[in-house]
Amino acid sequence: MEIVGLQQRFGKRARMVTALAGVDLRVQRGEIFGLLGRNGAGKTTLVKALLGLLRPSSGTVRVFGREPGEAGARARIGYSPEEPGFPRYLYPRQILELCGALNGMSGAALAAAVERQLASSELQSVAGRQARQLSKGMAQRLSLAQAFLHEPELLVLDEPTADLDPIGRRQVRDLIVAARARGATVLLNSHLLSEVERLCDRVAIIHGGRVIREGAIGDLLAGDRELEDVFIELIEGAGGGTGYGPAQGWASPLPPQQPAAPSQPAAALPPWQAAPPPSPAPPSPAPSPPPPSPAPPSPAPPTEHPPWLAP
Ligand SMILES: Nc1ncnc2c1ncn2[C@@H]1O[C@H](COP(=O)(O)OP(=O)(O)OP(=O)(O)O)[C@@H](O)[C@H]1O
Ligand SMILES: [Mg+2]
Repeated sequence: MEIVGLQQRFGKRARMVTALAGVDLRVQRGEIFGLLGRNGAGKTTLVKALLGLLRPSSGTVRVFGREPGEAGARARIGYSPEEPGFPRYLYPRQILELCGALNGMSGAALAAAVERQLASSELQSVAGRQARQLSKGMAQRLSLAQAFLHEPELLVLDEPTADLDPIGRRQVRDLIVAARARGATVLLNSHLLSEVERLCDRVAIIHGGRVIREGAIGDLLAGDRELEDVFIELIEGAGGGTGYGPAQGWASPLPPQQPAAPSQPAAALPPWQAAPPPSPAPPSPAPSPPPPSPAPPSPAPPTEHPPWLAP
């Protein structure tokens, strides 16, 4: 998997967000590669560009030497998204069958793989509940089950253990290590640095849409250092803050604290996600700020498909 000069911008002019500001990255076959960075650094954007769910503003992305999203390449990839958006009224078994079918599986092989995943993900006890009735961790287990179902060559896991209990986390680590043992490549986004330390062969740290450090985990931790210390030092060395400003999306330090912060351009919510709850009115100093001017018509964002429906 190779990324060269990848830029990803959302919106236009003053509302433009530069989520990726020129990323070069190469992940070798058979390695577990960790993508680290603060909230909003650009990790999920990178993953979506890699899967062909976003069209890059510029730069090139190649997976298995091909354009992302090309027919044939997708079935070789297992993707567990940050926020799985399963059809609410389907049951776990149906969802796994659907995902398997979309990845070219059928018949007895599909049925056996589905049962195997239900068992290994400990979802059998909730097989009679619809997706909307699953707990957060159960939904994450289902998301992982569909990613591993077809034993893909490349696993793209966006914070795969964020919602899991400690036993689930260990199970997923074991699954990842087993996948590498059979020759699979794993790209892992995670904030859990102990997990990254244990699992990853190499990591890249993204800050403000740029890779500020890439290397073997052993090199990063040379001198018996903790990954957390290395991470914080690198982020501070790169200017600290979140690495993005209110308008540019990167490179400026944290915006100054204001009673009513200028609103970030809202990320377009995919249609299957519920609308965000109305934010409670902050105790605002009188007089209250003028109402925001009507937003200019924003260009349609690149289509983002639920992973299990993406072409
Ligand atoms: N559709 C969108 N429209 C506008 N801005 C977006 C959109 N998607 C992402 N962004 C912005 O791009 C930046 C990178 O977001 P991204 O989701 O890639 O971060 P991340 O590193 O995955 O963060 P986290 O650790 O919180 O998951 C953020 O500033 C985010 O607000
Ligand atoms: Mg993310």
